[in-house]
Amino acid sequence: MEGWATFRLIFGDATNMAEVPDGSIHFVLTSPPYFNAPFDYPDLFESYDAYLGTMRRVAREIHRVLADGRVACLIGDDVLVDGERYPVVADLTRIFVDLGFRYRDRIVWVKPEGYIRISRRSGVMLQHPYPLYYYPDNVQESVLIFQKGRFDYRKVPERLREASRVDLTNYQSEKWYLNVWHVTNVLPVPGRLEDGIAAFPEALAERLIRLFSYIGDTVLDPFLGSGTTMKVCRLLGRSCVGYEIDLELLPIIQQKVGFHRGLPLDDAQFDVVIRQDARHLRTSLAQQVKQKASVVRKKN
Ligand SMILES: C[S@@+](CC[C@H](N)C(=O)[O-])C[C@H]1O[C@@H](n2cnc3c(N)ncnc32)[C@H](O)[C@@H]1O
Repeated sequence: MEGWATFRLIFGDATNMAEVPDGSIHFVLTSPPYFNAPFDYPDLFESYDAYLGTMRRVAREIHRVLADGRVACLIGDDVLVDGERYPVVADLTRIFVDLGFRYRDRIVWVKPEGYIRISRRSGVMLQHPYPLYYYPDNVQESVLIFQKGRFDYRKVPERLREASRVDLTNYQSEKWYLNVWHVTNVLPVPGRLEDGIAAFPEALAERLIRLFSYIGDTVLDPFLGSGTTMKVCRLLGRSCVGYEIDLELLPIIQQKVGFHRGLPLDDAQFDVVIRQDARHLRTSLAQQVKQKASVVRKKN
């Protein structure tokens, strides 16, 4: 039915997406947890190998549920923990390629220069302007684009194709045609809904959903977080399935997507499933982030 969309929010571990039938998803948009990033997920995973094991199992599920020819987009970056850099982008790419995905593209998402969330590593050079003291500040993330085989454009009905047409005005003026995208990140203003969630900006989700899905398609986000993918799907006439392990995010997602008032919806159906393997994470993660920050302050 045109204009009608369904939204399924499933609390549980995305290594098992049994609720989603094989080949039923038309686009995957997600940002996996940033390993044990000190300001987002301190000690969430036992080890880097355990993290990669989880990512491999989620990737296998993505491959199973994605329809032939369709695309999975992962937004993320290498992670620095206690001075050690973990090659997340390379390892995720290897995992997806080994499963049989085509590695189609990597976009570099550049954030505004004034925004450096983790630390100003470049200050080291100001104190020690000598060779080998160079540590750049990070203002980028990768958008990894994988495809399951090749898409058969002939199967799309003409009317749907036209309805989903990409507006070339934005494509030109915002330079979508380059593999470097300048998009402002979610700014850390006090009291924001996404506090402590490492959300990606709606503008980035909107661009990717417009570029890789048709109106009426179903989009999956296995790591839903605050619900950005689901919110933008609702705005753009796509259905969405979202998995999130942390049950504490339910009210945030409801509010962000606009299902919090308990009003009947005329454009959509919204279901919530709470599985046994859902967890309660945010409160304890926030406490650990605070502890880590106070240790860093004391050290300085
Ligand atoms: C980087 S955040 C996603 C943020 C999201 N893109 C947004 O815009 O709000 C990753 C999310 O994955 C969740 N997560 C971690 N491990 C998970 C798992 N095994 N299954 C499902 N969700 C998981 C975390 O709780 C976190 O909310």
